[in-house]
Amino acid sequence: MARLDKIKELIEKREQAKLGGGEKRIDAQHNKGKLTARERIELLLDDGSFEEYDMFITHRCTDFGLEKTKIYGDGVVTGHGTIDGRVVFVYAQDFTVFGGSLSEAYAQKICKVMDQAMKVGAPIIGINDSGGARIQEGVNSLAGYAEIFERNILASGVVPQISAIFGPCAGGAVYSPALTDFVMMTEHTSYMFVTGPKVVKTVTGEDITTEDLGGAHIHASKSGVSHFSVENEEEGLMLIRKLMSYLPQNNLEDPPATTCTDPIDRIDDILNTIVPENPNKPYDVKDVIYSIVDDSEFLEIHRDYANNIVVGFCKFNGMPVGLVANQPSFLAGVLDIDASKKAARFVRFCDAFNIPIVTLVDVPGFLPGSVQEYGGIITNGAKLMFAYGEATVPKITITLRKSYGGAHDVMSCKQLRGDLNYAWPNAEIAVMGAKGAVEVLEGRKLKTITDEDEKAKYIAEKEQDYVEKFANPYKAASYGYIDDVIEPRNTRFRIIRGLEVLSTKKLVNPPKKHSNIPL
Ligand code: HXC
Repeated sequence: MARLDKIKELIEKREQAKLGGGEKRIDAQHNKGKLTARERIELLLDDGSFEEYDMFITHRCTDFGLEKTKIYGDGVVTGHGTIDGRVVFVYAQDFTVFGGSLSEAYAQKICKVMDQAMKVGAPIIGINDSGGARIQEGVNSLAGYAEIFERNILASGVVPQISAIFGPCAGGAVYSPALTDFVMMTEHTSYMFVTGPKVVKTVTGEDITTEDLGGAHIHASKSGVSHFSVENEEEGLMLIRKLMSYLPQNNLEDPPATTCTDPIDRIDDILNTIVPENPNKPYDVKDVIYSIVDDSEFLEIHRDYANNIVVGFCKFNGMPVGLVANQPSFLAGVLDIDASKKAARFVRFCDAFNIPIVTLVDVPGFLPGSVQEYGGIITNGAKLMFAYGEATVPKITITLRKSYGGAHDVMSCKQLRGDLNYAWPNAEIAVMGAKGAVEVLEGRKLKTITDEDEKAKYIAEKEQDYVEKFANPYKAASYGYIDDVIEPRNTRFRIIRGLEVLSTKKLVNPPKKHSNIPL
């Protein structure tokens, strides 16, 4: 074959590979409101930055007549490109080829980009849209999955890993996304479950739809498996680009700082009155967040899950920061099992990737009751304590209002190596609220008072005494547990100055194989 013919052949093969499962299947994909693997990658990455690997790989299966159908690429598009000029490795499962199902060769392609990402220290983004294990390949497919799982595990805490679920993701296939740092799902076109509705019906008799079992809304609000639920793929891909703007390339780098035009000494007078006089009245902690961060920009993670705690990324003077805040407007900001797990995972992500943590505290305590105790609030609450206590990144804590009991300790207190612990003047830092404290301390005396009015008067006096003595930040400040009591409207400036001074912080945990966080 002449040289030019060989080039023509290459071009033709490329065109063929780019068609995946063919025009008809591409149309079917579009008709379902989904993009193709290549269209997704194109939207995700900077224009023209994608370099594809293994375009000509085909499967090696000879069972069930599969040897007669070989398609270039074998159902997954892999390679690298850039997001805002920074390298990322990607793979996108191609549903138009054997339903995006995973073969041995297909797994090898994914493993290759994961290995390259680890070598060069760059994030891995996987776009999932697959019927799961390629049934004709049997155990080779299972082995392929396990090869990917092992790489997900070894890459955890080394390079950021993001999973987008834009179609089916079922059976053991769910475990690769589950092992990654962030999972995103599209509303109505994606689902994740270990066993589908038919198996559920057979085994348990339960009638349930795909959407109700494993749709985006369910995993974003009930299971917490998914961190982001998006209306469509375009929105999801732009959100991944945004998320990347807060993350370093790997665990040895700092997160990417940008120029900040929002004045660092911007004072917001509203903050001085944002917390209601009545300690039992709620307010939205997101109003505080939007007020203090650069340009009011806050990328919330797990927005629809465990709303009693808010976590997400923001910037202070252009520096990416992980923000954790109790939410008084939902369950009074109490810590429960889900909130503890949600925040613990986030704190650990930030710590693994050198992202400082700012914590806004307004917590009345842990949620009482048998449901929480039977569900293991002890172990789960300990997760958050462990995550904060183990973290070596800069940690700034601002107590906005309540900080009671065990929850005070958990929420990045001084003794969990909080670097700067500030409180607003109306903060209440104590073992418990006045009502509970008076009931315990004055129980014996109260039994002796028979007149109800007299009893109420006595309780009110004692509660007032307790509030004056303990429900303020000065007791904690007098012991140095709070470094300073600050004017709320100066919070942004105090955080920024704190982060600046802590930017050279060096803290190393004792050598060990790994810790044993209470899972
Ligand atoms: C081989 C598959 C496949 C699979 C789909 N296809 N899934 N081929 N192995 N797992 C093929 C179909 O035969 C079909 O080929 C084409 O892909 C498109 O599939 P459709 O069924 O026409 O598409 P749709 O109606 O949209 O349904 C999608 C689907 C369904 C819900 C995903 O295909 C499905 O239920 N697939 C099987 C799912 C499954 O049981 N997978 C194994 C899970 S266990 P043709 O040529 O006819 O168009 C697992 C274990 C992993 O994954 C373990 C890891 C540890």
